Amino acid sequence: MQISPSILSADFSDLAGEIERVAPTADWVHVDVMDNHFVPNLTLGLPVVERLAEVSALPLDCHLMIEDVDRWGPGYADAGARSVTFHVESSRDPVTLARDLHALGARAGMALKPATDVERYVDLLPELDMVLLMTVEPGFGGQRFLDSVLPKVRRTRELAREAGLDIWLQVDGGVSPETVERCAEAGADVFVAGSAVYGADDPAAAVDGLRAQAAAATASSWWR
Ligand code: DX5
Ligand code: ZN
Repeated sequence: MQISPSILSADFSDLAGEIERVAPTADWVHVDVMDNHFVPNLTLGLPVVERLAEVSALPLDCHLMIEDVDRWGPGYADAGARSVTFHVESSRDPVTLARDLHALGARAGMALKPATDVERYVDLLPELDMVLLMTVEPGFGGQRFLDSVLPKVRRTRELAREAGLDIWLQVDGGVSPETVERCAEAGADVFVAGSAVYGADDPAAAVDGLRAQAAAATASSWWR
């Protein structure tokens, strides 16, 4: 069970300080890169990621919501992100991209929007370290969790198991104390949380709380 707090909900004027607040308990820090084309929002890019990689005590889990990710994605691995996740909807050649990311020493993740079917991409699973299933439409923090994605979480876990692959399964969007157990029961093992962590009085404690809930729900779930 790993928790990756999203700094999208943090204070952008003090990102290093905001990462320090979760560093004692979190496993990763989730960095949402948006280009105002793939999604209708603009956040940060390579120069900021480069600096965060230098100052962060946590490894960076970069979630790229950008167009032409085949071209720009490897730069984020080069900038020091330990995990780089690209949207399959944005990639023309996901196999080459995943291999490029690996060659640069990063883990390779593939993200799917809520309406994107995972069955089409089964052949890609052996190339990947992680699948990210969006549980909201990408673009903004603080949206309501989409329960309709849970069958896809379960199906993705089944597909990975059938293939004998040790793939991490990340959920992102609306993950909170109210929804994290459903995600874990369905098969998720990496949880992104923005507002549920940075909206809490004690973000580090919120991370611990989410992990404890996820672990308890997983212990009694079908896929463990
Ligand atoms: C949304 C981003 C998420 C976002 C989640 O497109 O990918 O990582 O920060 O925020 P919450 O947890 O508030 O839904
Ligand atoms: Zn994200």
